Amino acid sequence: MTTPSREGFRPELSRRSFLGRLGGAGALAALFPLVDPSRLAAAAHALPLPPSRPDGSPSAAPDRALALDEAFWEQVKAHFPLREGRTPMNAANLAPAPRSVIERVMEITYDVDGDVSFQNRARLSGLQGNARSAIAEYLGAEPDEIALVRNTSEANNIVIGGLELGVGDEVLLFDQNHATNSVAWDVRGARYGFGVRRVGVPDGVDDPDEVRDAFLNALRPETRVLAFSDISNVSGLRLPVRDICGACRERGVYTHVDGAQSFGAVEVDLHELGCDSYASSSHKWFMGPKEGGVLYVRAERIPEIWPHIVGVGWGSDVEPSAAGARKFETLGQRNDATLVGMGAAVELHYSIGPDRIEARIHELASHLVEGLRGIRGLRLVTPAAQALRAGVVVARVETDAGRRVYERLYEEHGIAGAATGGLRLCPHIYNTREDVERAVEAVARLV
Ligand SMILES: Cc1ncc(COP(=O)(O)O)c(C=O)c1O
Repeated sequence: MTTPSREGFRPELSRRSFLGRLGGAGALAALFPLVDPSRLAAAAHALPLPPSRPDGSPSAAPDRALALDEAFWEQVKAHFPLREGRTPMNAANLAPAPRSVIERVMEITYDVDGDVSFQNRARLSGLQGNARSAIAEYLGAEPDEIALVRNTSEANNIVIGGLELGVGDEVLLFDQNHATNSVAWDVRGARYGFGVRRVGVPDGVDDPDEVRDAFLNALRPETRVLAFSDISNVSGLRLPVRDICGACRERGVYTHVDGAQSFGAVEVDLHELGCDSYASSSHKWFMGPKEGGVLYVRAERIPEIWPHIVGVGWGSDVEPSAAGARKFETLGQRNDATLVGMGAAVELHYSIGPDRIEARIHELASHLVEGLRGIRGLRLVTPAAQALRAGVVVARVETDAGRRVYERLYEEHGIAGAATGGLRLCPHIYNTREDVERAVEAVARLV
């Protein structure tokens, strides 16, 4: 196989500098780095990219106008090696990576296997550092606050196992948390004697303030930690993270956010959100390499968290005060290709624009919500209010068809969803409006 020779993360493709600077052929060249530039120029001429945003600033709310036309998204879809007849709609669990990420992973894999010497691999630590910096910037954090781990499960457990809690302390959890941010707390609580309590949100909630109040009203004097998914993988409910974290910080309550459903799907600025830690996976909405993950810990909180695994380097170059969040990633031999490949995934996001990706996901999810809403025998679990959802759409089949709908969607229509919380469908940038319409028609027939 021939491997393209490319440099690591290109600083010119950064969160702040991308918007409004790259247009036309520039953006397409970044998106399709392996394609002949003259063909890109022609494609760019055919598909002029509108400016991302009038003032070039990142937005709080998705803007439909940012979504490009279907022809552009068809080109994006062509960048993913999807099997004929298969339509992935399960980014909440696993998303395909684009060719640029796969090629980068292969390139580094061949490089390492071609020369496993320390000398050769030493070169790659610089590329890993670039990936960390790129992810930090993408998430609105400092590189020293980012640990590159293996997935959200691990990142959640590092925080859960590392915080010093004991008898008399209480941890408050969102009752829709994933097991790794729920059962994992029960296990630690049983061992160290702290209490674990859960809070839910009212059925049919349609106001972010109501959601915020449900959490804040549940805090007690003994509550030391609040841990929640920012977007639920079982209902699609999106929480008002900034409001919740801000209020918790005023009360001295540590906030841990499981961002498995937000990283790569919506714009995330961690310093602005104000959480103390945030966990996510590379292989979901971020479309990065498999078995890659991110753990962010706010700088002031890093010394409070014990490391989960203590490996080579601890006490020297990963001495806590010098290494920042790297103290959480002494996991022994790692896969350089995965870590470097995560940097390539950041490039993809900047090539299109994180705001455009968020807007496109919102557009497709809204199209899906509208379509599913009209189907008899199906009840939408995901809130209708735009502010309370993102890319995760869940509906409950109220007929005998039940779980068979999810299975037949794949067997008969090639549409890969999930049976989590009901029927879960998660459209992403490798889907088109037509994919969504096909899914709605198929569900209507199956219910
Ligand atoms: C909210 C949430 N947290 C954690 C996870 C675990 O992710 P991973 O298997 O990548 O560790 C998932 C997986 O779907 C999830 O939805």
